[in-house]
Amino acid sequence: MNFKINETKQKLHGAYYTPAHIATFLAKWVFERQPKRILEPSCGEGAFFSALRNVGVRPSTTIVSCELVPEEASKAVCLAQNLGFKNVDVFVGDFVSWATSAIKNSEQFDAAIGNPPFVRYQYIDRLIQTRMENLFELLEVPFTRHTNLWVPFILASIRLLREGGRLAFVVPAELLHVLHASAVRDYVAAHCCDIAIVDPTDIWFGETLQGVVLLMAEKRSAGQSVATLEIIPLAERHQLDNRLSDLRVKGNAVSVSALGPKWVPALLSPAERETLAEVASRPKVREFHEIANAEVGIVTGANSFFFVPDDVVEEYDLKKWTRPMMGRSEHVEGVIYDAAQHDRNRARGLPTNFLDFEFPFFSKVPQSLRRYIEVGERDGLHKRYKCRIRNPWYVVPSVHTAPIGLLKRSHNLPRLFLNEFGALTTDTAYRVTPRNVAESALVGSFVNSLTALTAELEGRHYGGGVLELVPSEIERLLVPLVDFTRVELGQLDGFVRKSTDPFALLDRQDNIICKRMGLKKGYFDVLQGAYQQLRARRMRLTLPDPIEEE
Ligand SMILES: C[S@@+](CC[C@H](N)C(=O)[O-])C[C@H]1O[C@@H](n2cnc3c(N)ncnc32)[C@H](O)[C@@H]1O
Repeated sequence: MNFKINETKQKLHGAYYTPAHIATFLAKWVFERQPKRILEPSCGEGAFFSALRNVGVRPSTTIVSCELVPEEASKAVCLAQNLGFKNVDVFVGDFVSWATSAIKNSEQFDAAIGNPPFVRYQYIDRLIQTRMENLFELLEVPFTRHTNLWVPFILASIRLLREGGRLAFVVPAELLHVLHASAVRDYVAAHCCDIAIVDPTDIWFGETLQGVVLLMAEKRSAGQSVATLEIIPLAERHQLDNRLSDLRVKGNAVSVSALGPKWVPALLSPAERETLAEVASRPKVREFHEIANAEVGIVTGANSFFFVPDDVVEEYDLKKWTRPMMGRSEHVEGVIYDAAQHDRNRARGLPTNFLDFEFPFFSKVPQSLRRYIEVGERDGLHKRYKCRIRNPWYVVPSVHTAPIGLLKRSHNLPRLFLNEFGALTTDTAYRVTPRNVAESALVGSFVNSLTALTAELEGRHYGGGVLELVPSEIERLLVPLVDFTRVELGQLDGFVRKSTDPFALLDRQDNIICKRMGLKKGYFDVLQGAYQQLRARRMRLTLPDPIEEE
């Protein structure tokens, strides 16, 4: 967990300046419409002023800007004068406050351009937090505390554009998928017509600007048709010397309404989207929620206290309170968690014991246990939120197992595992219960290119490129449900344990599943290609650490 106090001033203000080639690319597109009044909501030192002048914006053009940091604002004003601009107005202060008044005064702009501050909600100044909430209300957009400072910047800028006006911003790549950014996705979709997102396929934005995309959208005029979105992958930075129109491919834009709640499917080609729709319509393909239920594992509030290796059990004489447990991907090498796997984990010294201090077991806390509890209290565990709301804090609720487990995070593809040993799982895994489906069929059918692709489309990813699935995302995964016997599951388990190549594993499974579905494997090959592309993108992006969502 990161704390505000540990963060640099630069990070708290989201003060990362835009490299000239990116600012110029965005300015070129905005200038195509000869804007007379331009908004730059957070000008910093004025990178976009230079870019606008470089692409030919006239000195007489009106530019209205905000900047929270007075020294930066002064630099930007000087720069604007040096560039010859005569009508540049920089408001020194908070854009959220300025924009609220501007919206109420019905101000309008021909273009909005910039790179807003990326600052997570809990790091934002209290006063600005309140103003953000009021601005969301004014714009009739649902507010959430998971939001980020860049979100109101984009919403207000769209609102302040005239019909046909152009919006060109550097935004976090999380725009495409995180839940809180649905406010922006929905607002852009409702108010813009032609949306283009430039997605760098290589890291050439420099350290500070990794994990960003370029959002370019035109505000919809009355009577114009619904929004379309095209995501343009960009392999080389010199491609930004082109105009946006030169980078676009005819037929690649997709209607936003066809995408669902996230924009990630727009990363697929039209042929891939078509194949996905075709395969999804097959009778054996089911949404996960139709065939199983996934419940979060045991929430301890202090995993390292409750989830311990054998030597801790011995040291504190805790044997009678232990129950077998597994918790991380390294604990389950294949797709079956059995006694042999559990013994191997114990032999490796991994934490395999859950300490279930079920209260009715004793009326008075025994001495040996007292000693262990005191260790936890010395570390302040009893004051942690999830512990202090329990009485006593060391008795954990909802301690039960499920026949199948699913790890919350995965590097390659999410895998179910058959929990034959009946091990408990922490909240790093979900407890999965099949609905009228054989356990081995569910676990075996889950490993394939269709499910892997839908996990990339539905899931979220953060620093290190790890894929994470929350329950609402698991529910929407597509599973081609075919028969798998327990013997076949054992064979799959052996293959997973030996295989280091996720694509060889998918090939094996796709072959079996396509045969059982009566489908040509070519369909799954297309899906695997799409999965490979999204997986590579996920692993490349450096994104902020997770903050808990729903
Ligand atoms: C990512 S930087 C971009 C600066 C400039 N647009 C550029 O592209 O180089 C974001 C800027 O927003 C400013 N900022 C942070 N919070 C702000 C707020 N509430 N209102 C206006 N500006 C803000 C920061 O000081 C910083 O200069």
